[in-house]
Amino acid sequence: STNEGTGGAYGSFPGARPRRLRTTPALRRMVAEHRVHPADLILPAFVREGTDEPVAIGSMPGVVQHSRDSLKKAAAEAVAAGIGGIMLFGVPEEAKKDAEGTAGTDPEGILQVALRDVRAEVGDDLVIMSDLCLDEFTDHGHCGVLDAAGRVDNDATLVRYAEMARAQAAAGAHVVGPSGMMDGQVAHIREALDGAGFADVAVFAYTAKYSSAFYGPFREAVASSLQGDRKTYQQDPANSREALRELALDLAEGADMVMVKPGMPYLDVLRDVAERADVPVGSYQISGEYAMIENAAAAGLLDRDAAITETLTGFKRAGASMILTYWAVEAATRLLR
Ligand code: PBG
Repeated sequence: STNEGTGGAYGSFPGARPRRLRTTPALRRMVAEHRVHPADLILPAFVREGTDEPVAIGSMPGVVQHSRDSLKKAAAEAVAAGIGGIMLFGVPEEAKKDAEGTAGTDPEGILQVALRDVRAEVGDDLVIMSDLCLDEFTDHGHCGVLDAAGRVDNDATLVRYAEMARAQAAAGAHVVGPSGMMDGQVAHIREALDGAGFADVAVFAYTAKYSSAFYGPFREAVASSLQGDRKTYQQDPANSREALRELALDLAEGADMVMVKPGMPYLDVLRDVAERADVPVGSYQISGEYAMIENAAAAGLLDRDAAITETLTGFKRAGASMILTYWAVEAATRLLR
């Protein structure tokens, strides 16, 4: 028989040779199980109040705090690159920070101004998202307001988030991204949006957001005032079952999309969430992940482009349908084929 000398089967060596499908680049491309499409990518972007020129962020080589003008250009480039969306973060003037994060809900606050700018620039050609959190706007740097004892007050913060959701929707956000990890935030925001006539504005919930050392560079990016940590509201890195509880709550509260954050250290959580969620799932490749690869590449330790592509593909393999990454535009225009 033709099986002679193969042990009688092609299910094992030497008949079975998985390397056959790795022979040429064309073959490998054809059989690839996962690939990243530009539309999967979301660009996080910072806009700084009171600057006419983009300001470099030392901890994130290649990323800037945008001026209003340079943000509009970046949004137009994002459309040209065919990426899915942009996630905006505001950096207010230092003097405008206060205990309640008032600038975060002021219609003239930098995030609302930037949302109007970007919406006017790109209309509906790009999904415009906004970070819905108080930390960039509070003088203490926490994601919520504090009680008399200095603890983050969950329910008082929800009232502020509701105002913030209305302000961002009125300014043109298609999607709001609550990132503060307050209990009940999704339901509160959904109710606030619906009550103000913004039933079509979607909620992209930061569902499993871990208290991570990898946020370090972001704190410089937004000129954070934080002293201490966020461990009473962000999740403990030791926990994965807890992420499923957060997922169940967010889905019950009406989350339209859910996110796991950070990216690379939490691929197992991403997989768990992707297997259970009946809504689109995103992964956020955060500032520390970006800085690690950029710095390792600058030191000649790894092939930058290959490393970026490998990490993005890893998020897709783990189950993400969307990826927030500071490389979104570069990946869409240059790295992905
Ligand atoms: C909170 C927020 C943070 C990030 C996004 N939204 C920082 C934090 O939780 O401390 C981090 C993003 C990054 O590190 O790239 N508004």
